[in-house]
Amino acid sequence: MCIETTQDMHGLLRIGRIVALTLQEMEAQLRPGMTTKQLDMIGGKVLRQHHARSAPILTYNFPGVTCISINDEAAHGIPGKRVIQPSDVVKIDVSAALDGYFADAAITVLVPPVHAEHQRLYACTQAAFAAAAAAARANTPVNAVGRAAEQTTRQCGYSVMHGLPGHGVGRALHEWPTVPNVYRRTARERLPEGQVITIEPHIALGAGGMVTAPDTWTLKTQDGSVAAAYEHTVIITKDHPMLVTAR
Ligand code: CO
Repeated sequence: MCIETTQDMHGLLRIGRIVALTLQEMEAQLRPGMTTKQLDMIGGKVLRQHHARSAPILTYNFPGVTCISINDEAAHGIPGKRVIQPSDVVKIDVSAALDGYFADAAITVLVPPVHAEHQRLYACTQAAFAAAAAAARANTPVNAVGRAAEQTTRQCGYSVMHGLPGHGVGRALHEWPTVPNVYRRTARERLPEGQVITIEPHIALGAGGMVTAPDTWTLKTQDGSVAAAYEHTVIITKDHPMLVTAR
């Protein structure tokens, strides 16, 4: 969506704040020994308290309130019986809706004891986000955003997972435009002022290839390498974008 009224702005900021609070609470309560289902229920409780609905359930009938993906699972992991282990790299992706407005954000939680390489991977993912956000201004073509994320990732020696781009968001979970995390010559659509998008680099330690698990939802790295993710919903301005899901 493009922000057109103060009602749009308030509606989007309200759900953005709820998504941020949900991620914050899930991160605070995450413990090794807990199942991903238990972690998902913590998120579900926060959403209910704020009368928000899970966007993956609303939009795709996803079998979980949030997406929880561990180690070589890059995205769309189904909460279930899997027990979180020490040193796991846990991606929590929360998208939710309230009063017809949608926001989407993700963090990676590094379970202690943290491997130095995983720490570097997540730092690189956050740096790729920051570079992409800095490039995302009104009238910029979306491939400039992708180029920034790709260059940062390459400097770290890691790989962008091409199959997991950012996207427009706001009145639905997935809207125009697609926001690749790599340079694509043909991705020349310019971001209008007020446009709401996600910026969400997914970065792998190995190559960036992706496969779908037999559960038909979970997206894993093809080579089994560990992946990290960092995502915010942002509003495009003439200057640095406004973070809608910042804590
Ligand atoms: Co997203």
